[in-house]
Amino acid sequence: MVKSIDLHTGSLRFVRPRDPAVLLSQEDEVPEAYPPYWAKLWPSGVELAYQVSVHDWSGTSVVELGCGLGLPAVAAALAGGRVLATDRATDALAFTAANARANHAQVQTMLCSWDAPEPLTACGPWQLVLASDVLYEQRNSDALIALLPRLVTDDGAVWIADPGREMVPEFLTATRAAWRTVEVVATRRQDVQMIRLAGPPR
Ligand SMILES: C[S@@+](CC[C@H](N)C(=O)[O-])C[C@H]1O[C@@H](n2cnc3c(N)ncnc32)[C@H](O)[C@@H]1O
Repeated sequence: MVKSIDLHTGSLRFVRPRDPAVLLSQEDEVPEAYPPYWAKLWPSGVELAYQVSVHDWSGTSVVELGCGLGLPAVAAALAGGRVLATDRATDALAFTAANARANHAQVQTMLCSWDAPEPLTACGPWQLVLASDVLYEQRNSDALIALLPRLVTDDGAVWIADPGREMVPEFLTATRAAWRTVEVVATRRQDVQMIRLAGPPR
């Protein structure tokens, strides 16, 4: 079934697996380090898509990391951005591409893990780097602290929407020591905050 979320500029249509809980439990029965979290619509993704839609990104190069269903990527494309959506899950990219089509938006996709980011870094840097709900494991935080400076232009920005995950304090300490600007700003939801980084370490 096609659903929608509100953007600042209108609405965004999307599809997702009918029952992500089934995918999660099936996956958990096999030794799998990475359950398919991509299949769920997370509040942080909804908030990031909305915040992106408040601005005009005409001509801006944008990459989304850990895109899941890809709603922020689609919102950025609808706002004029040239957008690449990335995830390590093939199925996430298939849903992101379907969601782009459902909104008549142009979004490129790339299969890439932060553990082996060379295909991604070879295509960058980008003026805007987006991610939502990615700081839920130590390995994610470590990988992103190292990778983000390589993905963003000197005058670019990183926006990460987060629902208060455990790794955030450590992530903020590390980025505050290295980046020129680190801000934490409110969103429409009390349980989701936006981390904004600018001035990457060189
Ligand atoms: C909690 S989900 C959030 C999905 C989406 N951003 C949202 O907010 O709805 C985390 C996402 O990050 C992706 N991810 C986790 N670790 C990753 C890694 N090492 N490299 C690339 N993607 C990763 C997962 O596949 C998943 O799509």
